[in-house]
Amino acid sequence: MTEHQPSPRVPDGPAAVPGCPVRTDAVRLAGVSYQQTPSQLYRALRREHGPVAPVLLDGDVPAWLVLGYSEVSHVTAHDELFARDSRRWNQWGAIPQDWPLMPFVGYQPSVLFTEGDEHRRRSGVITEALEGIDQFELGRDCQYIAEQLIAGFAGSGQAELMAEYAHALPMRAAVQVCGMPDSRADTRQLVEDLRISLDAGEGDDPVAAYGRVGERLRQLVKDKRSAPGPDVTSRMLLHPAGLTDEEIVQDLISVIAAAQQPTGNWIGNTLRLLLTDERFAVNVSGGRLSVGEALNEVLWLDTPTQNFIGRWAVRDTQLGGRHIRAGDCLVLGLAAANTDPQIWPESHVGAENAAHLSFSNGEHRCPYPAPLLADVMARTAVETLLERLPDLVLAVEPEELAWRPSIWMRGLTALPVEFSPVVR
Ligand code: HEM
Repeated sequence: MTEHQPSPRVPDGPAAVPGCPVRTDAVRLAGVSYQQTPSQLYRALRREHGPVAPVLLDGDVPAWLVLGYSEVSHVTAHDELFARDSRRWNQWGAIPQDWPLMPFVGYQPSVLFTEGDEHRRRSGVITEALEGIDQFELGRDCQYIAEQLIAGFAGSGQAELMAEYAHALPMRAAVQVCGMPDSRADTRQLVEDLRISLDAGEGDDPVAAYGRVGERLRQLVKDKRSAPGPDVTSRMLLHPAGLTDEEIVQDLISVIAAAQQPTGNWIGNTLRLLLTDERFAVNVSGGRLSVGEALNEVLWLDTPTQNFIGRWAVRDTQLGGRHIRAGDCLVLGLAAANTDPQIWPESHVGAENAAHLSFSNGEHRCPYPAPLLADVMARTAVETLLERLPDLVLAVEPEELAWRPSIWMRGLTALPVEFSPVVR
């Protein structure tokens, strides 16, 4: 294959790249077709490379994309072999400080990058603090937030649901369960700074916003030390594991970020399915599939965290017939694993069960009970919207909806809708 020759099987997406330090058949995880229809890329990669494909990340940094259901399950179940501390990476020498993927892989002293006993300590605190959330109360709070957001656009007869609803709701709910009342001005500022840090738009300064998030959460932890309440932050502070204030700040940022982005995209992808697929035709009474079925189908077919970076090999090993070297980076191909033909031999993908890998697996999986909380947020958001605006329809043709240019998250750039204006 010559330098500018595209891969014959994957048009206008990844190209084979000679000179790759790891393999000459590695493919770039980029390209327009990849953003719009990643399932085609996964199929092509699987055909060409099997369940573990050599890929190139931004700047042609080599990694492995784990595509097989059983291989992703194996990697995530064996943290003694595939660990989470990114400082193990054998490519750091080739990576510039301003590498675009640094926010995902740059080591931070949070639960995300800890391993072994230290991880169990940090993750145990989060799990118990989240278990203290009353799911009925969360449902009521989400309904209240949903009603407020809907009231903000109901009179106009149109809305852009990703920004005005799908992302806004879980952000406000997550901040509230951490102990910051929705009504306070500094909470609203925090919500805005979190939005900028996680999803910067043109003219935003994500670094400055992230700095303000840290300061606000430091202040929150200080306030809750002197006056604890019935919230996640206070339960983390009072936990017998005795986390330091700074550890709690780091883990609160992880919890809020981990909660907001995927839940927002779960809501958006489910609304898209409901509004575009006639099996769910929301205007036709009788016989339509339920919101619960749509939420579950999205986790199988359009999962919000489509790829997750990642794991780093602790020592030389084998995976899916590949030789993996110590320090190699493995990207968890969660979306590809969910549609692996090995588990769907009839090529019909989709099931009523929850055996998908959308919340990952093993020690570092999305911690119980976070998936249940995400379900309460997403279900309440979708049901409340459809109840309040029953004649909601897309304001553009389904083909005009664009996916975000991200290989990590699967979510829409915008979801414009129309409905009869609600006059109060
Ligand atoms: C649709 C919603 C969600 C999806 C798809 C999702 C998915 C994931 C995935 C794929 C991981 C990475 C697991 C790994 O490293 O193997 C993760 C980690 C995590 N999630 Fe979620 N998540 C969701 C909602 C939430 C919510 C609502 C919370 C909190 C309330 C949460 C908290 C966390 C935390 C703290 C981690 C880090 C776990 C660790 O490293 O020990 N997630 N999630």
